[in-house]
Amino acid sequence: PAHPRTPEHHDGTVEFREVTFAYPGAEAPVLDGVSFTAPAGKTTAIIGSTGSGKTTLVNLIPRLYDATSGEVLVDGVPVTQMDRATLTRAVGLVPQKPYLFSGTVAENLRFGRPEASEDELWAALDTAQATDFVSERTTGSGEDVRTGLESGISQGGTNVSGGQRQRLCIARALVARPRVYLFDDSFSALDVTTDAKLRAALGEYTQDATVIMVAQRVSSITEADQIIVLDEGKIVGQGTHHELLDSSETYREIVDSQITAEELA
Ligand SMILES: Nc1ncnc2c1ncn2[C@@H]1O[C@H](COP(=O)(O)OP(=O)(O)OP(=O)(O)O)[C@@H](O)[C@H]1O
Ligand SMILES: [Mg+2]
Repeated sequence: PAHPRTPEHHDGTVEFREVTFAYPGAEAPVLDGVSFTAPAGKTTAIIGSTGSGKTTLVNLIPRLYDATSGEVLVDGVPVTQMDRATLTRAVGLVPQKPYLFSGTVAENLRFGRPEASEDELWAALDTAQATDFVSERTTGSGEDVRTGLESGISQGGTNVSGGQRQRLCIARALVARPRVYLFDDSFSALDVTTDAKLRAALGEYTQDATVIMVAQRVSSITEADQIIVLDEGKIVGQGTHHELLDSSETYREIVDSQITAEELA
């Protein structure tokens, strides 16, 4: 924007007002009349079947796309009227398909805050449950052996496993200390124990921040302050786990399908 608006408060509140979105060239909207507030200091979880619009919704916040109609606000200001650097600082996205750049582990972690100290990098790795594998990591050979934070990452992060890549991307978001954390299905490649440990440790970073968390597993969001149920781009339920068990048929179906699947397993 030529004349960016300065937010009046900086708590990280995210608000959607009647947001409709269609991908360029597509006629049918992927999000339809979506309105909700994700308050600061709280966790808002988003659940819904594949293709229901969860990633699309999250991607509108850092402006990977702009709403077709309606408004997305951060700190009370429409994101389209915010200074780009201010928005980038405010919002930390861990994308569903996490991506690493060629370079070292440390360079990847410092992407959002180049001045972060080594202690801060290790603290973020600790929280992301990544300390063990990073400290044991060695790349290169001969004269060029590099270990730990200085070990090498290949383009796209192809020399780490999917779960390791996911944890490095979570650590990268933590190092940046944004006011809004967006986790798009960031815990699904983790086993249930690591998932639980990571979420317990996150509080240190996220207690005053706004957290929006897309999840597949109901078990990972039962403690969320509010859960939004998406179905074909519309909000069909909103509330806590227990409220939704009473009020939302779609939520009950998701819960039932997972309980059955787990019992069968
Ligand atoms: N770049 C794109 N261009 C056109 N259509 C897209 C694009 N990305 C997603 N879509 C469509 O938008 C709809 C919502 O996709 P989205 O990725 O938001 O779903 P999701 O809820 O995140 O699904 P999943 O649980 O599989 O991650 C789908 O019908 C999808 O095919
Ligand atoms: Mg998705």
